[in-house]
Amino acid sequence: MRKIAVLTSGGDAPGMNAAIRAVVRKAIHDGMEVYSVKHGYNGLINNDINKMGLGDVGDIIHRGGTFLYSARCEEFRTDEGRQRAAANLKELGIEGLVVIGGDGTYMGAAELGRLGVKTVGVPATIDNDIVGTDVTIGYDTALNTIVDMIDRIRDTATSHERTFIIEVMGRDSGELALNAGLAAGAETIFIPERDTKMKDVAERIQAGLDRGKKHSLIVVAEGVMSAEYCSNELAKYINIETRISVLGHIQRGGKPSASDRVLGSRLGAYAVSLLQDGRSGVGAGISKNELTATDFTYVRVHDKQYDNSIYLLSKELSI
Ligand code: F6P
Repeated sequence: MRKIAVLTSGGDAPGMNAAIRAVVRKAIHDGMEVYSVKHGYNGLINNDINKMGLGDVGDIIHRGGTFLYSARCEEFRTDEGRQRAAANLKELGIEGLVVIGGDGTYMGAAELGRLGVKTVGVPATIDNDIVGTDVTIGYDTALNTIVDMIDRIRDTATSHERTFIIEVMGRDSGELALNAGLAAGAETIFIPERDTKMKDVAERIQAGLDRGKKHSLIVVAEGVMSAEYCSNELAKYINIETRISVLGHIQRGGKPSASDRVLGSRLGAYAVSLLQDGRSGVGAGISKNELTATDFTYVRVHDKQYDNSIYLLSKELSI
C-alpha cells in the first residue's frame, strides 16, 4: 500500500495526538505517503485532506484533545455522504484509512470498507468500552483526572461532614465510575451495568453514621442518573446534608498520561502495520500486553464486560 490517511472522530480523548503522530511517522518511516483528514468524517466528505510530513506532527505528543479536530458527522450517516467520502479518497489514490475513535467511529469505517476503502480502527475513548482491547486511549488520563478531582472533593466533604454525589462520564459504560470509585475510596458506586438500590445506599450511609463516620462519597455514572436526581432520590430515604458535583468535560481534557502516550504510539504504529499486511475491517487493540486485531463486526455485536470483582471489592473496602 502506497498512500494512507488518518482521522479522529467521536468524543476526543487524551492520547489521540500520540496515535496520530505514530500513524504519520510509522507510515513515512516505511516509505508510504500519509494524509491527515480534519474534522472526522466531515473532512472526508468536504475533501479536507492534506499530505503530512514528519514535522507536521512535531510537538503534539504531550497535548490533550486532537489536533485534527473531531466531529460527529450526520452527513456520513447517509449513503450519499459515504459515497462522496470514498470517492474523494479514491481520487487522491488513498487506499487505506486509519480511524481513531470509539465504536461509532469503527462503524463508519466498516461502511467505508464496503465501498472499497481499507480501514483499520484505533480505539480511543475515555469510556474504555471498546471490545478487542483491554484498554482504550484516553482512559488512563481521564481516570487519573477524576480521582484527582474526587480527592479534592473529599477534603471539603470531610471538613463539612457532608455526603457528596459526584457524577462522572459514562453514558453506557461504568468503567470510569467503577475504577475511580475504588481508587478514590467512594462508599457507593452507581454503574449502568448493575442495579444498586437507593434504599441499600441509605442504609449503608446510616450504618456509617452510627459508627461515627461523618462524610461519604457517592460516584454515579451519568448513564445511570444525574447527580441531582440521585440526591433527590437519596433524600427520600435518609435525612443528611448532601452536595453534588458534575465533573463534565474536565474529564476529557488535559495532557495525556505516559500510559496513554505509550498506548497511542503503539496502537497508531500497529494500525499502519495492519494496513501494510493487507488487513481491513479490524480494530487494533492490546490484550495482556500483546497487540491484537479484532473484526469490526465482533466489536459491534459484543458489549465490553465490566469487572464485577472490582465492584465487590469496592463494597468490601468502603464499609
Ligand atoms: O467520550 C465519551 C463520552 O465521554 C461519554 O461518556 C459522554 O456521554 C459523551 O462522550 C459526551 O460527549 P459529547 O459532549 O461530545 O456529547
